[in-house]
Amino acid sequence: MEEKTQKQIILTGDRPTGRLHLGHYVGSLKRRVELQNSGKFDEINILIADDQALTDNVDNPGKIRDNMIQVALDYLSVGLDPNKTTICVQSALPALHALTFYYMNLVTTARLSRNPTVKAEIQMRGFADEGLPAGFFAYPVSQAADITAFDATVVPVGEDQLPMIEQTREIVEKFNKIYGETLVLPKAMIPENETQRRLPGVDGKAKMSKSLGNCIYLSDDPKTVKKQINGKMFTDPQHLRIEDPGHLEGNVVFTYLDAFCTDAHFAEFLPEYANLDEMKTHYQRGGLGDGTCKKFLINVLEEELAPIRAERAKWQADIDSVYDILRDGTAKAVEKTNTTLARVRKAMRIDYFDDRSIVKEWKKLF
Ligand code: TRP
Repeated sequence: MEEKTQKQIILTGDRPTGRLHLGHYVGSLKRRVELQNSGKFDEINILIADDQALTDNVDNPGKIRDNMIQVALDYLSVGLDPNKTTICVQSALPALHALTFYYMNLVTTARLSRNPTVKAEIQMRGFADEGLPAGFFAYPVSQAADITAFDATVVPVGEDQLPMIEQTREIVEKFNKIYGETLVLPKAMIPENETQRRLPGVDGKAKMSKSLGNCIYLSDDPKTVKKQINGKMFTDPQHLRIEDPGHLEGNVVFTYLDAFCTDAHFAEFLPEYANLDEMKTHYQRGGLGDGTCKKFLINVLEEELAPIRAERAKWQADIDSVYDILRDGTAKAVEKTNTTLARVRKAMRIDYFDDRSIVKEWKKLF
């Protein structure tokens, strides 16, 4: 479909497998709120991808059920506004299941095997030895259904999701080639800078992940945040005495400061320096202790997290309203995705019961 005359539509989503953390926040949530408030998009849709979460949690549906509300609360607390953004639940959108099934025929198993993100996940989850669920193997196809069902033009995601968007584009191109121009070709939008793209865990080893215990969650209380930073955050192992020169490479405190601090934070909490560059120079020269740096980081993060926490507390006290938001958003999404499915069925010539025109065709056969 022509992109110039196209409405600008966003679709993105998360698997509800846990509360959202600072990695999600800098990598994606903050951007979504900016996009939402930019007024540049005709539609913004966010999908809580519970079906996708089930592809590797088949024996643990309770976890998904509980985390639906956690993720919804995280969305609302960072400023996603249900009046501007449609928040919906994947499993309640039957059109997505139908589209997935049709798109399966447009993808080879060889192509699915080459998806680098899925490959890495198969290793991480031990599916290589235990046996690989077909549903998990094929989830990129279901993600293509998510994206195309909303006619999304823009898909804001983390870097690890680029292979999914690439596969979606291939499916769209193949579908349109076989059945005529029907689906909208989406584009990925990834975070601008490196730190936003992959905020390391507090241990500095990898991305934040629940199983590694290296996360700071948006819903953590101040004591927990402080404990993660003071107790676990990796700095410079060679920086033993304050006078020693410090190193910035791999120093998580500075990585987080890169991601979160502004000059205004210095004026407020650490007026010895005008900005982060001055602080870094002092650290590298020697004479600036890790304790001071960590204390500053805690202040910076608290400034960001305190309003989110307060907003979360408000919604948490009103779960009924959150339920209504999800129900209403999902009802809207049902309509939208059913419209796309009808268009797809028509293009595929399986729209038998939309009218009786096929009766005439069938009669001609005899
Ligand atoms: N795969 C995404 C993740 O793991 C979640 C997701 C599901 C998604 N459907 C989507 C992201 C559609 C963007 C668009 O984070």
